[in-house]
Amino acid sequence: MKAVTVEPRRPGTARLEDVAEPEPRDGSVVVEAVAVGVCGTDIEIVEGKYGWAPPGRTRLVLGHESLGRVLDPGPSASLRAGDLVVGIVRRPDPVPCPNCAVGEWDMCRNAQYTERGIKQIDGFLSERWRIEPEYAMKVDPSLGLLGVLLEPTTVVAKAWEQVAMIGQRAFWDPRTVLVTGAGPIGLLAALLGRQRGLEVHVLDRVEGGRKPDLVRALGATYHTGRATEVGFEPDVIVECTGVGQVIVDSIRAVGAGGIVCLTGVGSGGRTTGLAAADVAAEMVLGNNAVVGSVNANKRHWYKAGEALARADRSWLAQLITRRESPEGFAAALARSPDDIKVVVQFAEA
Ligand code: BGC
Repeated sequence: MKAVTVEPRRPGTARLEDVAEPEPRDGSVVVEAVAVGVCGTDIEIVEGKYGWAPPGRTRLVLGHESLGRVLDPGPSASLRAGDLVVGIVRRPDPVPCPNCAVGEWDMCRNAQYTERGIKQIDGFLSERWRIEPEYAMKVDPSLGLLGVLLEPTTVVAKAWEQVAMIGQRAFWDPRTVLVTGAGPIGLLAALLGRQRGLEVHVLDRVEGGRKPDLVRALGATYHTGRATEVGFEPDVIVECTGVGQVIVDSIRAVGAGGIVCLTGVGSGGRTTGLAAADVAAEMVLGNNAVVGSVNANKRHWYKAGEALARADRSWLAQLITRRESPEGFAAALARSPDDIKVVVQFAEA
């Protein structure tokens, strides 16, 4: 079968090639691929900056934002042939650390977790894949292709849960949220903010295209410029760019008692020239909390599924700005400024 594979840490090695059918040890459920979303992490992997091949191998099957149709549910009583499913990305570490031991693999403490398509286990960018039934999440069939948005939605479902939990440290009645970055993660974070009844603002550098309209369609406000210049002090900032200056601006812009949740995994960039102690003093005097949030556990997958099922389908559909065939995977991995979510599509949903 065809799969997109890459040699992690070697740029320019991604290719579509014939690989063996998935092995039963990958899971008893056999799934045919419908679509795979591409995100910044995939681009980092093909650029040679991130990713790990399975032990004893040099190449990894790429892809962690899946959507597939069950071909053979195996002994699973909860799945049927034809079900649309999405594969959970992370697997607990083998030790396991205390968090992985209780199913909180997203909070793994020893970094020995594995991730499909990212860290030591093959991903979903192949015509067929296998999965353990407990890691196959059924999606609302009426979502169809939009089910491919489930994995990125889990990331923001976890981020929002972190914010809510940290908010409980004091009297907490948040009203305003600023989301930095109007990519898929930012827009989905904005969607969940609106579903929570908050006044949502989204900041991005682009002035035109679909992003401002998508933000307004949510009943949210679109901003360009800097987080420190939006004209109010947000109770919550969900930072989705991973860009150093935007991160520092977010920490400075958040209101007293506010929470900044960092979701972007960036690297390098320019230093911002601020003394750490000055930034810290602002945080201390404002009782501000800054929290990093990565990945998602089953509770977040469940919540994300509910959030997507409740969302306006035509709004969600506009997040998918391009669909490429598996042969066009290289084009899918090349970002254009108007792209929001690009998917590699194998079959109709
Ligand atoms: C994925 C997460 C993963 C993270 C770090 C993100 O792109 O959505 O599932 O944990 O990368 O590898």
